Amino acid sequence: MEPQVSGWNTRLARLTGAKNPYDSLTPPLVQTSTFVFPDAQTGGARFAGEQPGYVYTRLGNPTVQLFEEAVASLEGAEAGVAFASGMGAISGVLLPLLKPGDHLLCSEGVYGSTFGLLEFLADHFRIAHTFSPLQTEAQIETAITGDTKAIYIETPINPTLSLVDIEMVAQAAHRHGLMLIVDNTFMTPYWQKPIELGADVVVHSATKYLGGHGDVIAGAAVGSAEFMRTVRLSTLKDIGAVLSPFDAWLLLRGMRTLALRMEQHAKNAQRVAAFLANQTAVAALHYPGYFEGGQRSILQRQMRSPGAMISFELSGGMKAGMAFMNHLKLIKIAVSLGDIHSLIQHPASMTHSLVPPEERLRMGLPDGMVRLSVGIEDADDLIADLSQAFERL
Ligand SMILES: Cc1ncc(COP(=O)(O)O)c(C=O)c1O
Repeated sequence: MEPQVSGWNTRLARLTGAKNPYDSLTPPLVQTSTFVFPDAQTGGARFAGEQPGYVYTRLGNPTVQLFEEAVASLEGAEAGVAFASGMGAISGVLLPLLKPGDHLLCSEGVYGSTFGLLEFLADHFRIAHTFSPLQTEAQIETAITGDTKAIYIETPINPTLSLVDIEMVAQAAHRHGLMLIVDNTFMTPYWQKPIELGADVVVHSATKYLGGHGDVIAGAAVGSAEFMRTVRLSTLKDIGAVLSPFDAWLLLRGMRTLALRMEQHAKNAQRVAAFLANQTAVAALHYPGYFEGGQRSILQRQMRSPGAMISFELSGGMKAGMAFMNHLKLIKIAVSLGDIHSLIQHPASMTHSLVPPEERLRMGLPDGMVRLSVGIEDADDLIADLSQAFERL
């Protein structure tokens, strides 16, 4: 009989074993494109969904399925579908939901390629969208139109780290019969559980904290078994951004240390934020741990930690931001986040360069802002690196 476990580390350590036919300690890597049917009739029956069994890795694979079940279980969802990237997961969820003439309501501030996808859907398929801060019920109500089919939010928003109240948005969405989709990449289920707060679907760039080691591009979507089946049989099967079994295997390995890594990320971020708050060269600091008022109360209600992402602006603007990044030695200049290594990037010219300047300003993203993903190195070393870069400014 399976032992009952409740702690995060025990749960994570045990994510990968239940249906393992070889009794191997680590999950089997089933690196195959297709599966052999014992006879023609079984092949036909599996295709028709009349008999269980794998058919072809684009439709399902045991290693990928373990990863899907792991993310769904951690998020508290009925089912999950893995994708080849976070953008694969986001488009994989939005496409089956939306038709020409429909409208999507979106948090003001989303990842640059999510913005690019929404523009693409508007240009090619007449699927409209509106960005709104979604900070009050009135803002949500006025932004919903007769054509709105779903609400899509990131929280914390990349890269400003502003927070959106998931429960309030979920209640408004459900009053109008709309689905709420939350990008939980920045928090992971370790720190934030959108489904418990009323969200219908959670999407992830598993490239980030879930994988954690900078060696995989991957995505996941979780939600009701019924909607995930629709996603699997439409966008996954027919558009085909499938995750490779080896990448699923790497993700399962990374996820076993999720809790340990997240604790260290958060501890480091707290130290780094305190250091940055004392630098005269820092004109503005965005770290949820320092938010006040309504934003602080959202943090307290829906996040178990302020996280490990910090954005800041230097008093010298963009020129100073670039010079500062070039002076860093330990912290690497790279997009991506949630890696064991600390990574710094410049959203206006990198991750959010697709977002027009006026929209960037509206979402609170000035050209001088840099975004730091605090890794799991020793905080003293990170602070020493930041300190020498400030001295050289
Ligand atoms: C919040 C967020 N969502 C989605 C994505 C897209 O994920 P991927 O790069 O795995 O496609 C990113 C990538 O940086 C992200 O930061």
